[in-house]
Amino acid sequence: MIYLAPIQGTTDRIYRNLFPLYFKGVDIAIAPFISSSKKMKPENNLLRELDPEKNTGIPTIPQIMSSIPDDFTKLANMLYDIGHSRVNWNIGCPFRMVVKKGRGAGMLCYPDRVESFLDQAMPALKPQLSIKLRLGLTYPDEALQLIPIFNRFTLEELIIHPRTGEQMYEGEVNLDMFEQCLSLSCHRVVYNGDIESAETLERLAQRFGSIDRWMIGRGLLANPFLAEEIKLRTVKSYPEKVKVMRAFHDHLFAEYSKLLSGPAHITNKMKEIWTYFGGFFVNREKIRKQINKTHHRDGYLAVVKKIFDELV
Ligand SMILES: Cc1cc2nc3c(=O)[nH]c(=O)nc-3n(C[C@H](O)[C@H](O)[C@H](O)COP(=O)(O)O)c2cc1C
Repeated sequence: MIYLAPIQGTTDRIYRNLFPLYFKGVDIAIAPFISSSKKMKPENNLLRELDPEKNTGIPTIPQIMSSIPDDFTKLANMLYDIGHSRVNWNIGCPFRMVVKKGRGAGMLCYPDRVESFLDQAMPALKPQLSIKLRLGLTYPDEALQLIPIFNRFTLEELIIHPRTGEQMYEGEVNLDMFEQCLSLSCHRVVYNGDIESAETLERLAQRFGSIDRWMIGRGLLANPFLAEEIKLRTVKSYPEKVKVMRAFHDHLFAEYSKLLSGPAHITNKMKEIWTYFGGFFVNREKIRKQINKTHHRDGYLAVVKKIFDELV
């Protein structure tokens, strides 16, 4: 099974809804996190975005960022009440502001906090729980203290990105430490990190024979054909792919335009999409520069037309 990783700013409801109209092979997605808060009400916009009736594309599991068990349970149960039987807890986000508040990867070095969080949250939790984590905040062996704690609870699965928070998204993934976590865990484990080709996945699958669930983020955004290439072992020609990318782009633009008022808003949203989407194209650096220079809807559309016209 292939999971689309949550990428805040890109894999939102619109993206997840349109993606399977153009690309095959992705089975499930975890939505980018929403933060729990005491004040969260059912009519909150972030919750409404996760309404199953509006999420018609890749089947999606909501993700919650929280260090406060009561707030977490309240939000998770609201998600359950609107139709989500599963939620994911994020304890891997490495961003400074998140870590400073003791959330995300900021929890990884405090096994006692993780344990008391689960002890308090789990009894009242209606949906099934999975956890997305890194190996640690500073040291890659921090997770070795967490896995035995997770083993005490009924969890759907662990999704492990084998880096530390301090590594952010760079440097090597630590496969030896991932292997240790895998052997310690009594839960199903999903591998996540740096899968950017069918060959990379093949190599990982050879090493970790017990794993059959793979989460892919940046690799899928830069090559949305990756999941079908992995599963169907077919590779379309570059010009054929460019045509599909153009149709996907135009559909995203049309849908975001309905939601975002103001010519700068839509341009900024599309620039965010291009951060990874641009990675698909052979002349990606030049394309990114051209896109980043646009500030207005009409200018943006003219540049995109020129880029695609020159590619086919
Ligand atoms: C810009 C950006 C935003 C991200 N947002 C989230 C998020 O909301 N929740 C989460 O669990 N992970 C988030 N991640 C991490 C990814 O889901 C994934 O774990 C990471 O990119 C490694 O996988 P990859 O190498 O396949 O991209 C984000 C990563 C990036 C680069």
